[in-house]
Amino acid sequence: MSQTEARSLGHGSSLPADQPVEELALEREVAADEVVVLDYGGQYSQLIARRVRELGVFSELLPHHVGVEEVRRRNPKGLILSGGPASVYAPGAPRLDPELLELGIPVLGICYGMQALVLTLGGKVEGAEIGEFGRSTLTVAEPGRLLAGTPETQQCWMSHRDTVYEAPEGFTALASSTESPVAAVENPERGLYGIQYHPEVVHTPYGQQVLTTFLEDIAGASRTWSAANIIDEQVDAIRKQVGDSKVICGLSGGVDSSVAALLVHRAVGDQLTCVFVDHGMMRQDEGEQVIRAFRDQFHVPLVAVDAEQRFLERLKGVSEPEAKRKAIGAEFIRVFEEEAAKIGDAKFLVQGTLYSDVIESGGGTGAATIKSHHNVGGLPEDMEFQLVEPLRALFKDEVRAVGAELGLPEKFVWRQPFPGPGLAIRVVGGEATKERLDTLRAADFILQDEIRKAGLYRELWQSFCVLPDIRTVGVQGDERTYGYVVAIRAVTSDDAMTADWARLPYDLLEQIASRMINEIREVNRVVLDITSKPPGTIEWE
Ligand code: XMP
Repeated sequence: MSQTEARSLGHGSSLPADQPVEELALEREVAADEVVVLDYGGQYSQLIARRVRELGVFSELLPHHVGVEEVRRRNPKGLILSGGPASVYAPGAPRLDPELLELGIPVLGICYGMQALVLTLGGKVEGAEIGEFGRSTLTVAEPGRLLAGTPETQQCWMSHRDTVYEAPEGFTALASSTESPVAAVENPERGLYGIQYHPEVVHTPYGQQVLTTFLEDIAGASRTWSAANIIDEQVDAIRKQVGDSKVICGLSGGVDSSVAALLVHRAVGDQLTCVFVDHGMMRQDEGEQVIRAFRDQFHVPLVAVDAEQRFLERLKGVSEPEAKRKAIGAEFIRVFEEEAAKIGDAKFLVQGTLYSDVIESGGGTGAATIKSHHNVGGLPEDMEFQLVEPLRALFKDEVRAVGAELGLPEKFVWRQPFPGPGLAIRVVGGEATKERLDTLRAADFILQDEIRKAGLYRELWQSFCVLPDIRTVGVQGDERTYGYVVAIRAVTSDDAMTADWARLPYDLLEQIASRMINEIREVNRVVLDITSKPPGTIEWE
């Protein structure tokens, strides 16, 4: 299963400075061309790699200190130097190794990357009185190769204080912006290019075009990286890794574990057995959907364990959130181990680790350093399996594309994140009993149903219900009621690190509330959570 279903792309963080390079290396047999992004700590470093991949060229993010040899070994078609938070003059600011510019590989410096390039080659960079943050206007004096085909005046997105005042010798200054006398430079003979603005963000309308020019015209990379060839590449790699051994996969029904399982099944067929543990804290019909899709549609050998009773027993008298998580996590491991033992001599375990986990966690298995509360449903480190991680090189949107290409039903491909401990941590302030879980499940079903009907499901990061352990007084059919309160939580977010409460239309809210109260006997009140994150968290527990 994935410990990462709830995590996503575009975290915006950069690589830890002391990260060992070997841990980041993506073991892949390179079929497609590659462009390496060297990370100088910028907020958008991951986004640069994603954009390059969107343009059909495989891209990897490596720490800036990776070293010339490592870059040479990868034999990339191009090198992109990312932005970064430091001033080039700050003590300890990351330096650009001049040898990187002598490899014969075209280089594009972005923001800090451009400043580092310019400074290294003898141009003039200085701290400016006025910074340039947000939208700015670029005026192109000479399009050169890099800005060819873009208009003389264009919008761009800036985020810098240090400013380039003079291009290095042999370079042409191509453009200026509101606060930057030199906002783009190039030396085509040496294959060196720099832009002060951020082509990777949507606020730079010609950004994709400039990246395309760099990839295609300048670096000569073939744009062949796609969901279809990710599948071919991974299928080959999995076959090589696994040979004729047995493989086991914990399936949660989330998009990561589902796609990982399908890829492995495509590669090694019935050598794979999936284990789906239904802990009774799933959303309505979810267990059945997993069984139907994997066993009936894809014919994946699947062990589905109905462990609801065991989990309910285990949760008796447990109301403290961390205790709930721990109880569920421990029981999950026990059930999984029992089933694994029955399957016998499986040597490999499939994990849905994503590239964002690899780079955020500093490599390794991706599991070790993820926040402890996200690790529920994870497996103990002492299980003696070798890991198969077919999504290790992929961003979440690529995982979805691969899932769609493999024929995974839309419901799985676009499923909102769901925490490992499931509905248990949404029965808040009290024990997760069968009765409360069923009430919550029924409310959650109505919410999802109405949100899907309104066409809003994909726009929301998450939408769910919470059932606090309180009752309130109401009146229905001339009778006094004393029922449960259901809270609706719907948020928009890019990465779950921050979130905003979703402004659901009033009519939709009314429809949801009235269905909940009419259709669920135990519920007599519905409230809406309008807390953003921070200060709230997305989940209540
Ligand atoms: P919070 O509540 O911390 O949640 O804002 C951020 C994201 O993580 C999910 N989440 C979990 N995922 N096991 C998981 O696999 C957990 O115990 C867990 N707790 C929270 C949450 O749904 C949100 O997407």
